[in-house]
Amino acid sequence: MKITRIQIITNTISALPAAALILRLTQGNLSANPIQAMTILTGRTAVYLLLISLFCTPLFNILNMSMFIQIRKTTGLFAFYYSLFHFLIFSVLDYQLNFAWILPEIKQKPFLQIGFGALILLGALAITSIQSIKKSLGKWWARIHRLVYVLASLIMIHISLASKGDIIDPIILISVFLFAMVWRIPLLQNIHLQRQPKWARDLNTFLSQ
Ligand code: HEM
Repeated sequence: MKITRIQIITNTISALPAAALILRLTQGNLSANPIQAMTILTGRTAVYLLLISLFCTPLFNILNMSMFIQIRKTTGLFAFYYSLFHFLIFSVLDYQLNFAWILPEIKQKPFLQIGFGALILLGALAITSIQSIKKSLGKWWARIHRLVYVLASLIMIHISLASKGDIIDPIILISVFLFAMVWRIPLLQNIHLQRQPKWARDLNTFLSQ
């Protein structure tokens, strides 16, 4: 399988926050509460990547640049990896995989139940992105992948409830999410450039090689 330039760039950029996290961890400069810092950093990175992946479809529609489909897949997959990492930090590092602590905590806090639901949906979308599974699903693949709107909404609720008292960050993230959603309105979905500009064609060709 051929690896394209845009795949190398997107994979590298998506992996950078994990590399920065490991570096800060080895240097011991991850705040006074490293577990909380890691939970927030992995959670936020997952959200940013998910939002980037949500903007890829409208950008593909408007500019007709196929590289956005590759960016969508890579950022979506990395959003899942970071969410899984986020969950593992919570359950393994914070709660030492002690289900006698984890289960009552999840039962008590709706924001954890909502996060769990979002993680399961993200996992389902990641697994169905495997080429052979995608092929065997046929038309169902696109239908299943519409769940991304449900899971992104769940994540917006999760972060609003998790970010104790801070309303600015959730408001910014929810606004960006809604802006990505607006482009799904059928009237706006038809907006695309009549003729693809030369720079867009050239850039797409260069990065897709
Ligand atoms: C079972 C699944 C999940 C669990 C157990 C979980 C757990 C947590 C916990 C305990 C916090 C609070 C951290 C703190 O302030 O001490 C948190 C915050 C956060 N979570 Fe999750 N989470 C889950 C799923 C997700 C998913 C799927 C995403 C995103 C894709 C996500 C994104 C975030 C973000 C961005 C924050 C930080 C909010 C802030 O800025 O303070 N979480 N999560």
